[in-house]
Amino acid sequence: MDMYAVVGNPVSHSKSPKIHGMFAQQTGESLEYTAIQAPLDSFRETVEAFFIGGGKGLNVTVPFKEQAWKIVSERSHRAELAGAVNTLLQRDGRLFGDNTDGEGLVRDICINQGVALSGKKILLVGAGGAVKGVMAPLLDEGPASIVVANRTVSKAEDLARIFGRNGSVSACAFEDLQGPFDVVINGTSASLVGDIPPLPDAVIASHTFTYDMMYSLRDTAFVAWAKARGAGQCCDGLGMLVEQAAAAFYLWRGVRPDTAPVLAALRKGD
Ligand code: ATR
Repeated sequence: MDMYAVVGNPVSHSKSPKIHGMFAQQTGESLEYTAIQAPLDSFRETVEAFFIGGGKGLNVTVPFKEQAWKIVSERSHRAELAGAVNTLLQRDGRLFGDNTDGEGLVRDICINQGVALSGKKILLVGAGGAVKGVMAPLLDEGPASIVVANRTVSKAEDLARIFGRNGSVSACAFEDLQGPFDVVINGTSASLVGDIPPLPDAVIASHTFTYDMMYSLRDTAFVAWAKARGAGQCCDGLGMLVEQAAAAFYLWRGVRPDTAPVLAALRKGD
């Protein structure tokens, strides 16, 4: 049977085996998908051993996405821009890296949530790897502008410099933000520990669509914050997780799974 896996550290919490298991069942594809915990100092060796052993493809999660970017022989254009790789496969005997995170975010917002990004004023909160990974796919949707706000403003300025040639991208400190925005996306890890970046309330209006790239069975801290400020639509990142997985599945198998039933099952806590 064709073997796939997610590599991370820690990885036992990963929902990827469940998601890909459901995709395989739904599409009739015959494959096995497991989770591999790589030692922090031997990610490359773990990947090499997997492919030497006949493995067909890997997903890469925290903290190895930047390392995965470094070890591949070839990268997709979007992975090149993201500076991180979340999907590995072999092409003509060479290790190829792609990044489906941005596609996952855009598909969840535009298709699942039905929110067009074209012409919108977007606030992106955070400037770490997660945000860098989604910048180019967001800009491809043709928003009016993206403002990147981060605790460490110099990191937001770096992103504005890198991606400014693809669209209107500017950097801002939290306290200098002028609202409201049409779309506010949280890409900080603050939500994981129940923290909210100190955003002015004025960034939210009743029409604002808010999205937390983190997810949780209950409202994340950011979703709760946005709801309390009257945002029109509030969404967490479970759909992004399922959509990035579907995009990886498509790369590996050439079949695009139906994400809706998988997302519904995960929402129920299955
Ligand atoms: P990831 O790969 O998940 O993006 P990262 O590169 O470490 O992880 O980036 C984490 C992001 O969350 C950064 O934008 C970080 O802000 P700094 O660049 O100033 O460190 C942001 N972040 C983490 N905890 C935060 C908090 N409590 N308040 C505000 N921002 C926070």
